[in-house]
Amino acid sequence: MEKFFELFKHDLKTQRLELRILEPTLENAELVWNVLKNENPDDFKYAPMVKNGILPRTQSETFQMMQTHAQWCIDGVGWYVFYNNNLIGYQRIHFWPGNRTIQCADVWFLKKYWGQGFNQEVHRKIEEIAFERLHANRIRRQCIKDNTHSFKSIKKSGFHLDGQERQSFRNPDGVFMDMCLFSKLASEYEKKH
Ligand SMILES: CC(C)(COP(=O)(O)OP(=O)(O)OC[C@H]1O[C@@H](n2cnc3c(N)ncnc32)[C@H](O)[C@@H]1OP(=O)(O)O)[C@@H](O)C(=O)NCCC(=O)NCCS
Repeated sequence: MEKFFELFKHDLKTQRLELRILEPTLENAELVWNVLKNENPDDFKYAPMVKNGILPRTQSETFQMMQTHAQWCIDGVGWYVFYNNNLIGYQRIHFWPGNRTIQCADVWFLKKYWGQGFNQEVHRKIEEIAFERLHANRIRRQCIKDNTHSFKSIKKSGFHLDGQERQSFRNPDGVFMDMCLFSKLASEYEKKH
């Protein structure tokens, strides 16, 4: 099964989006920083971009973030999401062979691209590959309880709320917050085509 995970490790296309793997180079860090530098950190306060839940503040921090994420991709893959050739977001997934689970992590879109169904579109592609080709048994997702956009998006993708992990996230203000855990099983997956 592990070798089939390689199916994920390349650039992908969805109906409207391109998912590209960007190596952590200084040039790519500039590309990412140029879009993130205009965002409001408050809009990303529930998205642990590195470990502390805040946006990178400089190009150098962006480079470090990309390096960290690339190191975490030994069992996974991270894509930068492009729309009309413009960078608009990021999504990473990991594969746990023991329980045949795809673990989703660290998704973000630039604020002006929220509410257009892009997150759901990326996840339809992840589900298609996970369940139709990789024969995974489960996809696992999570969000901070107060992250209403993420909560709604995950529910709209047909995920089941398994429960809440109490105070498992500490936000940048030092407040402990509950994490909602969701899953979709292979037996619940509906082909969209
Ligand atoms: C959470 C986040 C990723 C959601 O992204 P998104 O692209 O807005 O989410 P969706 O794909 O579910 O979009 C659904 C919305 O688009 C609308 N929409 C428009 N066109 C659509 C289409 N073709 N298909 C589906 N929905 C569509 C839906 O009506 C829905 O609107 P609503 O939220 O008012 O009900 C985004 O808000 C974000 O990046 N937040 C900051 C980072 C963050 O918190 N990350 C989450 C960590 S867990």
